[in-house]
Amino acid sequence: MIIDGKQKKNIDRAVELILSGDVVGFPTETVYGLGADAHNISAVKKIFEIKQRPDWDPLIVHVAGREQLETVVEELPPIAVKLIEKFWPGPLTIVLKKKTSLPSEVTSGLEAVAVRMPRHLIALALIKNSNKAIAAPSANQFQGLSPTTARAVEKSLGKKVSVILDGGPCLVGVESTVISLLDEPIILRPGGISLEDLEIVLGHKIKINVKSSIVRPVSPGMLDFHYAPQKPLRYFDAKGLTEFVKKRGIKKNLSTAALVCFSNKEVKKFENAGFKNIFPLSIVGNYDEASRNLFSTLREIDESEFNMIYALAFPEERLGVAINDRLKKAQHEGR
Ligand code: TXA
Ligand code: MG
Repeated sequence: MIIDGKQKKNIDRAVELILSGDVVGFPTETVYGLGADAHNISAVKKIFEIKQRPDWDPLIVHVAGREQLETVVEELPPIAVKLIEKFWPGPLTIVLKKKTSLPSEVTSGLEAVAVRMPRHLIALALIKNSNKAIAAPSANQFQGLSPTTARAVEKSLGKKVSVILDGGPCLVGVESTVISLLDEPIILRPGGISLEDLEIVLGHKIKINVKSSIVRPVSPGMLDFHYAPQKPLRYFDAKGLTEFVKKRGIKKNLSTAALVCFSNKEVKKFENAGFKNIFPLSIVGNYDEASRNLFSTLREIDESEFNMIYALAFPEERLGVAINDRLKKAQHEGR
């Protein structure tokens, strides 16, 4: 993307806001972020307030390169250097021991910080021109769908954010992969860089622990979903969905339900099962295209007349792993 004169003015305005301790909405290649100066405690607190995010859920710090990375992390193990050289700028977040000078509000009191260098030119311009590391979660209300367009940010948080930079639809569409390098490498969240690609670079298998090390307060019913649309969503594998349709005799209700699936293959099969409104995320079955379309499709369905969303599991490979993670966490019976 080219940053034209008008866009440059918008970025300058956003930089002013960051420098004055305010928050801005901005595009990254994964999803839109809600950013503030990571070293300004009151600015960081505004992020939590605006998103209604609990203070125990730490933020990712965005940097524009290696030099700035060294202002937020205490040490850079060789394995981190290896991953950075291969995947930055891009959708890989690494968790490392934090510098004590980084406010603990950013990391929710943890000794470790999650950090990444985004690939989007507007995100990079915002970080470079302000010369600030930028703490930013996805720019949506806590537990809601992540925004992949400026309009989606506006709808979710528009009244509370004075500037939202528009960088077009996000090219990756799912959030970054979060990998902890504090100990043996472990994936805390599957995302835009696949496990397969990480394993090639590291030369060995990597474990996934999506429960992560973050201790969440127990609050039944409140925190068991995430990335969720307003409409109820149920997630099945193909066999489970076929059985569910048969058993429950829900066929007559399928005209008001939407089905989200991978490709045309599933469309044919589930049309025969009685589904009327099927949304393949990639007709040809391409993972990159499917992840790009995931949140925008869920949002589109959420804003339309359907009263129920069914989601069909993707193959557990490549970006299908991240897509399944988001769909599983989006399940709920109504909110
Ligand atoms: O692609 C992305 O990562 C987007 C864009 C805006 O960069 N950001 C994003 O942020 O998805 P957020 O806040 O929605 O998700 C951050 C994830 C959470 O799962 C959080 O628990 C984890 O990163 N995280 C943040 N800091 C951590 C830390 N110090 N240790 C372990 N996990 C951490
Ligand atoms: Mg988020």
